Amino acid sequence: MAQILGIESTCDETAAAVVIDGLRVSSNVVATQIDLHAKYRGVVPEIASRAHLEKILPVVREALDAAKTSFKDLDAISVAHRPGLVGSLLIGVTAAKTLAWTLAKPLVGVDHVHAHLFSVKLETDAQIPMPAVGLVVSGGHTALYQINSFLDVRLIGATIDDAVGEAYDKVAAILGLGYPGGPIIDSLAATGDAAAVKFPRTLLAKNSLDFSFSGLKTAVLYHVRGFKGREKTADALTPREIRDIAAAFQAACVDVIAKKISRAIAMIGAKSVIIGGGVAANKGLRKRMSAIGLPVFFPLPQYCTDNAAMSAGLADLLLAAGKISSLDLDAITYSQFLPESA
Ligand code: KG4
Ligand code: ZN
Repeated sequence: MAQILGIESTCDETAAAVVIDGLRVSSNVVATQIDLHAKYRGVVPEIASRAHLEKILPVVREALDAAKTSFKDLDAISVAHRPGLVGSLLIGVTAAKTLAWTLAKPLVGVDHVHAHLFSVKLETDAQIPMPAVGLVVSGGHTALYQINSFLDVRLIGATIDDAVGEAYDKVAAILGLGYPGGPIIDSLAATGDAAAVKFPRTLLAKNSLDFSFSGLKTAVLYHVRGFKGREKTADALTPREIRDIAAAFQAACVDVIAKKISRAIAMIGAKSVIIGGGVAANKGLRKRMSAIGLPVFFPLPQYCTDNAAMSAGLADLLLAAGKISSLDLDAITYSQFLPESA
């Protein structure tokens, strides 16, 4: 039985978790920074790293206490060390290295995006037919993968501009709604009329598995404010118009995602689909995917957004495969990140 402590600090959640045998989550603590970033309507890197520094030790302590375990009973320390914001990553990576060194336990560096894919296994042990098409949709990522196993994950498509969660957050800002925008737009969309406005679906080249959401975001902006200037703002919209725009925007996002997944299924001969990341909580996406014709695996709601249980779970597989990191493990940022080298 392997008991692994996971640490997560790639973006704006400070998290720690204890996971047994890769699947059983004995604790999952997440200190969110949403309130700190809400007034800027996006993550401010400097604020994020300071908050991680304050929270990391209490969060680790809480995760051990909630799991009723102690440092000496851990088999390994895992940390999401890529990709992310450098100041944020450094806090988690430094904490994990320090613990691994002082406790003389193995250190396991985990790819945060691969961990989002693995999150569908947590507490379900879903038997997933492979190869699978994997999709990670979050505030920072929109990427498609061919998954032959959770240790053999290949990037086959990615956004060329905004991540889909980022588009949700920006559209929410255009509509004068709160942050993060995803859950707000998702619930407004449920009561809106998606056919009331027609927004573009950007599919790129015929066989492309890449995504682009910036045109859709700009289309919403022009629809709300008008083309020529700033005569109109979101204040001029009625609640009904806001609901309709939310529904039409969500329909465009979900359409594009479903089409790209169908393309990827055909290209790799996939037997199932795995969807992880914050946007995997989206009700419209879940509904649409139920008609895709293959088994589709989503994480439990608490494992959609950033958490440390997903990296501790994946670390169990890495540890068993002997993929242990050295104490000079690097924090790797988005810009340094070359997913193909994973
Ligand atoms: O996975 P996550 O916590 O962070 C990153 O790794 O980026 O995802 C956060 C993102 C935010 O952009 C948020 O607006 C979006 O996930 N999100 C949603 C929903 N819940 C969260 N987007 C659409 N529908 C939702 N229900
Ligand atoms: Zn994430």
